Amino acid sequence: MTDQATTRQTGGGTHAAPAADTPPGGTGAVPDRPGPRYEDPRSVIPGAGPAPRPGERATLRLRETDTDAGTDEPARYAPEWLQLREPADAYARAHDLLDPLRIRLANLPRRADGFTIHDIGCGTGSMGRWLAPRLDGAQHWVLHDRDPYLLHFAAVASPRSAADGSRVSVETRRGDVARLTAEALSGASLVTASALLDVLTREDVDALAAACAGAGCPALLTLSVAGRVELSAPHPLDQEITEAFNAHQKRGGLLGPDAASAAAEAFSEHGASVRIAPSPWRLGPEQAALTAQWLRGWVGAAVEERPGLAEPAGRYLAERLEACAAGELRVVVHHDDLLALCRPAGGAA
Ligand SMILES: C[S@@+](CC[C@H](N)C(=O)[O-])C[C@H]1O[C@@H](n2cnc3c(N)ncnc32)[C@H](O)[C@@H]1O
Repeated sequence: MTDQATTRQTGGGTHAAPAADTPPGGTGAVPDRPGPRYEDPRSVIPGAGPAPRPGERATLRLRETDTDAGTDEPARYAPEWLQLREPADAYARAHDLLDPLRIRLANLPRRADGFTIHDIGCGTGSMGRWLAPRLDGAQHWVLHDRDPYLLHFAAVASPRSAADGSRVSVETRRGDVARLTAEALSGASLVTASALLDVLTREDVDALAAACAGAGCPALLTLSVAGRVELSAPHPLDQEITEAFNAHQKRGGLLGPDAASAAAEAFSEHGASVRIAPSPWRLGPEQAALTAQWLRGWVGAAVEERPGLAEPAGRYLAERLEACAAGELRVVVHHDDLLALCRPAGGAA
């Protein structure tokens, strides 16, 4: 991402956006503030929403593709954002999908070196820290991401032991997960992802489904945004911000809130049996720091999508942040987890 890039919020993060010097129909200046309570929706931690990068002018920008115009720089996700959301993610994950997954893994032919699990778009590695201690047996995790900075965090904070005390080892691989092939997944016991699908395109997800089906390995693809939020004390702007945010999610052909259903379709077309289970964040006073960052990202993305919202959204954000700081705000951010059981290669299980 270049200095002119911006980021965008996803179920779990952000995507790079090419910058425009001025907002459509505007100057990029902070709108007039008709009253003391106004929050700039553009002040966001990278990953939580469309944040300016250091040294970048705080203007509203347009995003057209996944990468910066003229470069192939990818999006950036601040490790602080991924760390902030990790406890809420852990709490939200759909435990109902674990038993069918355990049964599938138990039916795999035993291998001396245990299971090989590929976590794609691993970020700082929260999926492995959650899942490895919930599965029995030795595991080797292959952590994939295109951001070497995040891979470093993932490697140093990797899980060490399985539910039954067996050894867990990790390796990291830098690359574009949209290019994973069945060959690259050969011998894999499982593919996992967390807060990734919504920042992929339909084509990426089709390729992923084909790769998993070709390798005969199941996939646990978690925490995709569902496009629905509930905030305590409903506000007249809730709906408009939700719609603008959801539209922002789909810029550049990304799946956004369609991610889980698109993945279900893609895996089903490859003969997998698919289950989807809800995995909502339930945020209250104890998650105030996460809620505040999420709010900034959510509103910021909505304003980037609909610049005309900037002024009312700034006041809305100020009110919501005030309620959050006072411990009076509760938010449910809906996500979906998906388990796809592909037909095993070679007829096992
Ligand atoms: C929202 S973060 C989620 C990180 C982590 N799975 C978690 O749950 O905390 C999305 C991650 O996917 C990575 N990512 C997004 N698109 C990717 C791609 N096409 N290839 C490789 N990594 C990608 C980003 O670098 C980022 O680390």
